[in-house]
Amino acid sequence: MDKLLICPSILAADFKNLAADLGKVANADYIHVDVMDGHFVPNISFGPMIAKAVQEVVDIPLDVHLMVTNPDECIERFVPLRPGFITVHYEACTHLQRTLARIREAGVRAGVALNPHTPLTGLEYVLDDLDLILVMTVNPGYGGQEFIPSMDQKIRAARRLIGDRPIRLQVDGGISLDNLGYIVECGADTIVAGSAVFQAPDPGDYIDKMRAGQRLDNFLSY
Ligand code: DX5
Ligand code: ZN
Repeated sequence: MDKLLICPSILAADFKNLAADLGKVANADYIHVDVMDGHFVPNISFGPMIAKAVQEVVDIPLDVHLMVTNPDECIERFVPLRPGFITVHYEACTHLQRTLARIREAGVRAGVALNPHTPLTGLEYVLDDLDLILVMTVNPGYGGQEFIPSMDQKIRAARRLIGDRPIRLQVDGGISLDNLGYIVECGADTIVAGSAVFQAPDPGDYIDKMRAGQRLDNFLSY
C-alpha cells in the first residue's frame, strides 16, 4: 500500500485569509480544490483563477475536484496549472473514457468521482483509464456534512475492484480523526478533509495526526 495521502479541502478555509490558511497546511500532500458550478451541485465555489492563486501561494500540487455539468469544457482551464489530479464526476460524463483520456493526454492523472447513490459497476471497463476513484461520502455541494454510514461498504467494494492496480482510492466528505481509522481500514488511501482540518486549532498538527492513521494495526486487513 502506498502512503496515506492527506488532501485538505480549501472549501473550509477562511477565504478572507486564504494565504494564511494555506500556510497552516504546508505539510499536506495535495490541496483539494472543490470547483462547483451551481448546476451539477447547488453551490457555487471557485474556478481556475482562484486555483491559480492557491498554487502561487503553496508549493503543493492541486487536487482538482470538478463538480460541474460540463467537465470536458472545464478541464483545459485547469491543465495549465499542472495539478496532481483532475477528477470528474461519473454522473456528468456521457463519454467518460474519452474524458479520462483527455486528462491523461494533457499529462495529468485522471480521477472519477461517484455520488453516494452511484454504483461502482460502470467503472469496471475504464479501470485502465483512471488513476483515482473518489468515493463521495456525502452528497457533493457543501462542506461540513456528516459521513453517510453505508459508504463504508462502497469503499470496501472499490478496494476490491481496484485490486493491485495503481489506482488511488479517495474519500471525500464528513471525514475527521473520529472516523478516519475505520475508513482507512475499509481501504481508502487518499483522504479529503475540509472542516475537520481547518477548524482544528492547529491544522498542520491535525494533518500529521491523520497521516498517522496509516500506522493503524488493521490498516492492511481489508
Ligand atoms: C463536498 C466537497 C468536499 C468538502 C468536504 O462537496 O467535495 O471536498 O469540502 O468538506 P468536509 O470535510 O467538511 O465534509
Ligand atoms: Zn471535494
